[in-house]
Amino acid sequence: MKQIGVLKEKNGDRRVTMIPVTIKSIISQFDYEVLVETGAGINSGYSDYDYTASGAKILSRQEVINSADTLLSINQFETDDITNDKTIISILNPLFHYDRLGIYFNKPIKLYSLDLMPRTSKAQSMDVLSSMASLAGYKAILKASELSSTVVPMFTTAAGTVKPGRVLVIGAGVAGLQAIATAKRLGAIVDAFDVRKAAAEEIRSLGANFIEVEGAEENEGSGGYAIQQSNDYLEKQRQLIYKHVSNASIIVCTANIPGRQAPMLIEKSSIEKMKPGGVIIDLAAEQGGNCEITKNAELIVHQQISVLGDSNLSAELPVTASQLLSTNYFNFIKHLRSTTLAGIKNDTIVEDCLVIDEGKLVNERVKTFMI
Ligand code: NAI
Repeated sequence: MKQIGVLKEKNGDRRVTMIPVTIKSIISQFDYEVLVETGAGINSGYSDYDYTASGAKILSRQEVINSADTLLSINQFETDDITNDKTIISILNPLFHYDRLGIYFNKPIKLYSLDLMPRTSKAQSMDVLSSMASLAGYKAILKASELSSTVVPMFTTAAGTVKPGRVLVIGAGVAGLQAIATAKRLGAIVDAFDVRKAAAEEIRSLGANFIEVEGAEENEGSGGYAIQQSNDYLEKQRQLIYKHVSNASIIVCTANIPGRQAPMLIEKSSIEKMKPGGVIIDLAAEQGGNCEITKNAELIVHQQISVLGDSNLSAELPVTASQLLSTNYFNFIKHLRSTTLAGIKNDTIVEDCLVIDEGKLVNERVKTFMI
């Protein structure tokens, strides 16, 4: 029988890769044994008892690492004690954080990183990036509203009418579109930028204004992602953003290029044009951020403008995030199992997510980004 191990996340990440209801399905559908590190789900609302009731076995961290043949975690974890063959399923962003892979080399490890999932309809149910980005976009607007000194919706009161807030969203991918939808629900007027033509229609369909910077380059082979733009284009974009920031009380930045430094789109001089009490939430912070003064995992207040750099806002919704992750991990395990049982060797989903095999880097996409 196969043994799946669920580890407790460290460094304040309150999410967990498997919730009890999904474990029940793993046990009943695949006949696997599930070992859960004690306290793994406590911050996502699940006690050890809930896991035991779902059929899992609660063990210490070391026991889970020693016994399970497949280990599930979101973040990196120590691998010093790994001596027998293990499969690890994580979310490591190895295209940008190649350094995170070092601890897995030259060990009997097969490592999958689910953020490398192809953006295809078949892979959608395993797409952890979409699940987490959607929550982050939503949370960004809630967080910004909380930090902001002004209200978001229009207020009609006996003391007069307060105009609705203006929200600027930079990058209208999964997180950006969710930020737009949430801001609209709160009653904001929303403007949004993106470099992909397809995003224009999506922005407009949510009732926001699309701001176009002409001359964007796209590449059909980029798997739905944006590609790096020329310096001329980015300069044009910064100038147009400069014109829009003074009207915005909230700016949400999500513009990213997989594996690359995020484009710097809001200069310090633009931030200084915002009205006091304004807020910028930079979800691209982990890859350098879209805003000149962003610092990852920090809240900076510059001339009464709050700039929060946080690419991990989904972790602030640990119950929902764990529920979605659990389904994504389950579907990936199911897919791995069915391709293995059918003897399929060249499956795109499996190949794209596999980073390390027998302790060696095997992922061609990661190899090209290392340079
Ligand atoms: P992402 O997190 O890499 O980037 C976020 C957004 O920033 C993207 O929309 C990108 O176009 C934009 N961007 C990059 N440079 C920019 C710049 N200089 N100015 C303004 N915007 C800039 O991408 P994400 O959100 O993970 O996904 C991007 C797209 O992938 C989606 O919108 C969709 O088309 C596709 N997708 C397809 C899926 C599927 O078919 N299963 C699932 C999820 C996404």
